Amino acid sequence: MKIEIGTTLDEFIIRREKNYPDATGDLSKLLRDIGVAAKLINRSVNKAGLVDILGDNGETNIQGETVQKLDDYSNEVLKNYIANGGQLAGFGSEEEDEVVIINTEEGKNAHYVVLFDPLDGSKNIDINASIGTIFSIYKRTDMEETCSLKDFLQKGTEVVAAGYVIYGSSTMMVYSTGNGVNGFTLDPSIGEFCLSHPEMKMNKKGGHYSVNQANYKLFPENVRRYIDYLVDDLDMGMRYIGSMVGDVHRTLLKGGIFMYPPTTSAPSGKLRLLYEAIPMSFLINQAGGKSSMGNASILEINPTELHQRCPVFMGNKDLIETLETQYPTV
Ligand code: AHG
Ligand code: MN
Ligand code: MN
Repeated sequence: MKIEIGTTLDEFIIRREKNYPDATGDLSKLLRDIGVAAKLINRSVNKAGLVDILGDNGETNIQGETVQKLDDYSNEVLKNYIANGGQLAGFGSEEEDEVVIINTEEGKNAHYVVLFDPLDGSKNIDINASIGTIFSIYKRTDMEETCSLKDFLQKGTEVVAAGYVIYGSSTMMVYSTGNGVNGFTLDPSIGEFCLSHPEMKMNKKGGHYSVNQANYKLFPENVRRYIDYLVDDLDMGMRYIGSMVGDVHRTLLKGGIFMYPPTTSAPSGKLRLLYEAIPMSFLINQAGGKSSMGNASILEINPTELHQRCPVFMGNKDLIETLETQYPTV
């Protein structure tokens, strides 16, 4: 059944669930809770210039980066909102050193774990450019065992649902449960996410390439040759915000390729496999695009560490295929 434009996120989730008579409702509740958390984060992001939440809080996170105040706030909102809903056995966050296992009776019986980047592109807060929240949801690997790190170190092929919220000139939530990608725009007048981009599909051709070009000299030779090919042979233009959510959102809507390749100083690149690369790859793949770590799919990587990084290339299918076959990097 086709769902009309303007349908609220809650209504959409309920109607979609009816297609799965065996569904317990837990995943739906979880997605709705993420939607509510996103609205709370959005409220603060919108007021970032007015109240004293701009700038950093003087601490560094486990990856050695300065933690911005809004990073903290977004992390707390997500934790409080989704951890207490009863559907989660545990969660992992870019801002937490370790996974958090929920040791309540409900938590022990819950089937799902969530991983999130509470605020992506946080360096852009101070200049009012697009930032976002990224999430992915997995099923626990074995309900006979207590929830542990191994439930979070699953391959991208095991993702049950993933999505992002972009706090841009409008706020959108884009997500997939493995059955296509749908986008919802927040209507501030009613405080609801409403279906605005049904069944999102990537352009087959065109679009921009998106990379931190200042790192060009630090990229492996094949990546440099590939970028030259995009510019010289395909005549592509370049766009780069420096906020993965913003750059991938543009790539999803307009086509092209987003990349964060390895550099001589960061041989695995900068982006985190579990919080950024896998969820965004899942969405790009669901929209008909493709993602790669340079020579193989990101969704086929077996994660070994919670905060591990990986090279990222994602976008139009043919651009990724050319990369992997003619300009592969390890
Ligand atoms: P985060 O704010 O969650 O730490 O992520 C920042 C990331 C990502 O959003 C973006 O693609 C990348 O950093 C930009 O890095 P450079 O400034 O090195 O280009
Ligand atoms: Mn991020
Ligand atoms: Mn972040």
